Amino acid sequence: MILGISVGEISPQHHDVDAKKHAKNVISPNLTTCHESVARPGLSVYCCPPKPESEEPFIDFQFPDPSSPLRLRRAAHLVDNDYIAKYRNAVSIMKSLPYDDPRSLLRQANLHCIYCTGAYKQKNSDIPLHVHRSWLFFPWHRMVLYFHERILGSLIGDDSFALPFWNWDNPDGMVIPEMYVTGSLVDTDRENSHLPPQVVDLNYNLQEKGLGPEEQIKINMALMYTQMVSGAKTTELFMGCPYKGGEGGFCEGPGTIELAPHNTLHDWTGTGLNPGREDMGSFYSAGRDPIFYGHHGNVDRLWEVWRRLQGEYYNSEITDPEWLDSYFFFHDEKRQLVRIKFQDVVNITRLRYAYEEVELPWLNARPRPSVPPKIAREILKMRDLDHENNQELPSSPFLSADFGPQGRTLDTTIRVKVHKPKKHRSKKQRDFKEEEVMVVYGIEVKEDSYVKFDVYVNAVDETLMVGPEFREFAGTFVNIPLGVWPVMRRKSNLKLGISELLQDLEADEDESIWVTLIPRTEDCMNVIIDGIRIEYIE
Ligand code: C2O
Repeated sequence: MILGISVGEISPQHHDVDAKKHAKNVISPNLTTCHESVARPGLSVYCCPPKPESEEPFIDFQFPDPSSPLRLRRAAHLVDNDYIAKYRNAVSIMKSLPYDDPRSLLRQANLHCIYCTGAYKQKNSDIPLHVHRSWLFFPWHRMVLYFHERILGSLIGDDSFALPFWNWDNPDGMVIPEMYVTGSLVDTDRENSHLPPQVVDLNYNLQEKGLGPEEQIKINMALMYTQMVSGAKTTELFMGCPYKGGEGGFCEGPGTIELAPHNTLHDWTGTGLNPGREDMGSFYSAGRDPIFYGHHGNVDRLWEVWRRLQGEYYNSEITDPEWLDSYFFFHDEKRQLVRIKFQDVVNITRLRYAYEEVELPWLNARPRPSVPPKIAREILKMRDLDHENNQELPSSPFLSADFGPQGRTLDTTIRVKVHKPKKHRSKKQRDFKEEEVMVVYGIEVKEDSYVKFDVYVNAVDETLMVGPEFREFAGTFVNIPLGVWPVMRRKSNLKLGISELLQDLEADEDESIWVTLIPRTEDCMNVIIDGIRIEYIE
């Protein structure tokens, strides 16, 4: 049931070739290669372990005993004082461990630094390995939490200890949970004005929007709906692009949740007084803040929630053997180096943890069109006429969805008409999960800076388009500096599922749609885009 590969069909002489190709495409670090890396423009960091991990013996991962206690991860705003005291105690001990102890908080934070700034090379190539912006994102971070949680538990002698999750997709969890505001869970490098009772802005763009709590919550819920439901109807849209080992395997295309709220909340939490909004606002430093683990607890939980939602439609599991066999190394609670594969972390029950059930209020937060679709269509028809009349003008910037060899700079709003390859899709195609996907391709962020731009479909008045609370909002692109390892700076693609949105806008049978890209941060001046096209993904 799990693997769709039929090895039996491969003839013996091809088998070797295949096995080699397989080994090359599997992602893993070369542990001898740890080196200084760039944290953000102008800052070098050295996050490597004091002694190279390649000199340590390792063991292969073993599942915990199925009869060991199930660790129940609870919402951070719902736990009691006893739990908080216990967690704080564990973190204090972890912080007090010396740096040469891999269980210490700084070593664990540096693990994130190593794998986000590309301090290791890939096993079979010179390409730096990093774990963001692709389908490595969810499973790699799951591994981090798994070991972090078990280390904390062992430090206080509690084998049922579970991490909390910051339930920021639920209105009651939309502030920094109290437990993080005092004691050992504090990090002083957080944005002061975002401490409680400030409501989180899941769509943060470095500007304080000054919205009241109710309005902010409404926007947060609508964004969650787009990122978890309408925009995430295929595995790639949610998980990110299929990154493989080696030069040919490279891709950069983060999934919906990674872009927002994951990236946006990193930046919202870190302080604007630091150049890289450290700690949370830069990946090299994020793991120093204990809230990082609660933030990722929720990201990890949403992976489970999404799977469950998808289960009703089709099989959302990744069955690619190269992804399943990709492996990494972590120290366990006994300081033993462990090799662990993605296939080891796809089932959380086998890992002996679970998430407390909480409500999913955003399931009912499907956004509505800002203008009734019939009226919008009339207005867009006029725009179409203008557009056709201008067709002769050779240099009109809005006429093509391929921006040519130079691309277009996102220093101002870009509005283009994009043709849909398939106009009338049969009901069967629509029902059987053939998702219509808008691809904003060839996104180049010249300085690896904080960038956010939003994408709208058939917007009649962009000045009214405030955000995700309107159905015309198709998604957002959010770039957090990874560290500027020049070889790592590649163009990204942003893929947005728009089938449901087009239905709601009554545009699913149209030949073309209008797409608007709105820059939301100053650094969008440094962004060049190659074009926009429509694809179909099953
Ligand atoms: Cu590795 Cu929240 O990032």
